[in-house]
Amino acid sequence: MLTLHDIAELRAHLNLPRRNGQRIALVPTMGNLHAGHLALVDAARRDADVVVATIFVNPLQFGANEDFSSYPRTLEADTQALASHGCDIVFAPSADALYPHGLEAHTHVSVPDVSEGLCGANRPGHFNGVATVVSLLFNLVQPDVAYFGRKDYQQLMVIRKLVADLHFPIEVVGVPTQRAEDGLALSSRNGYLSAAQRQRAPALYRTLCHMHDALRASESPPMTLRDGLAALTEQGFKPDYLELRRAQDLGPIAPDTQEAILLVAAHLGTTRLIDNLPVSLPR
Ligand code: PAF
Repeated sequence: MLTLHDIAELRAHLNLPRRNGQRIALVPTMGNLHAGHLALVDAARRDADVVVATIFVNPLQFGANEDFSSYPRTLEADTQALASHGCDIVFAPSADALYPHGLEAHTHVSVPDVSEGLCGANRPGHFNGVATVVSLLFNLVQPDVAYFGRKDYQQLMVIRKLVADLHFPIEVVGVPTQRAEDGLALSSRNGYLSAAQRQRAPALYRTLCHMHDALRASESPPMTLRDGLAALTEQGFKPDYLELRRAQDLGPIAPDTQEAILLVAAHLGTTRLIDNLPVSLPR
């Protein structure tokens, strides 16, 4: 496995496989890899000839009051894990390499509609930062296929729209959320939780599961959401949002919506956790 930091070197290494018609897969990450990321790499390894993973803690997607400087950086352990999952190339650029004229002066990509509301409302500018860096990585790697976790469901929708709107010839694959045995969705931010908070954290997913069952049993969405919010607050979470949206495009649910998705973001102490669960609504 090659570890590269330089854009020209990355391009040079990808020229030959591309010319030979090999299928190139991209797995963009911010590092601090867990089994959720490695499931993306495994899926890429199954489907493609060349697997490129990127590790870049993207300053453009963090708000001023967020955890950019404390975000865990574990390049050595990450490269070992990627090598053992059959990754071919790790690209770990510096911020100067990607944004040579600084963050403000750089061209930004913004994806309307799906970026608004939910995490977009609580983290202004976040999805512009994601869309910008993902466009940049798409352009550098020019993959045939790219893998993203379904845990970041709104991000996945933003990227699907970005690919459609900018006509990137890239297939986007959403990989199911990986969970700990107690149901907590795997996330690099779980490492911020104290032992007591970690014990309480699976209540987030349990609440979504109860809501899922209530909706399947035809309980009304507003009532289910009210109960869900009350349950989260009672269990010590400070919810940013708990919503039921159309799964396909995060639009509002209508009487004829069948495939919906419950989405939640909530703080446990200073840690912000997100999760989601699809629901097939009864007719
Ligand atoms: O999901 C992430 O880790 C990041 O948002 C991504 C897609 C790698 C862009 O920085």
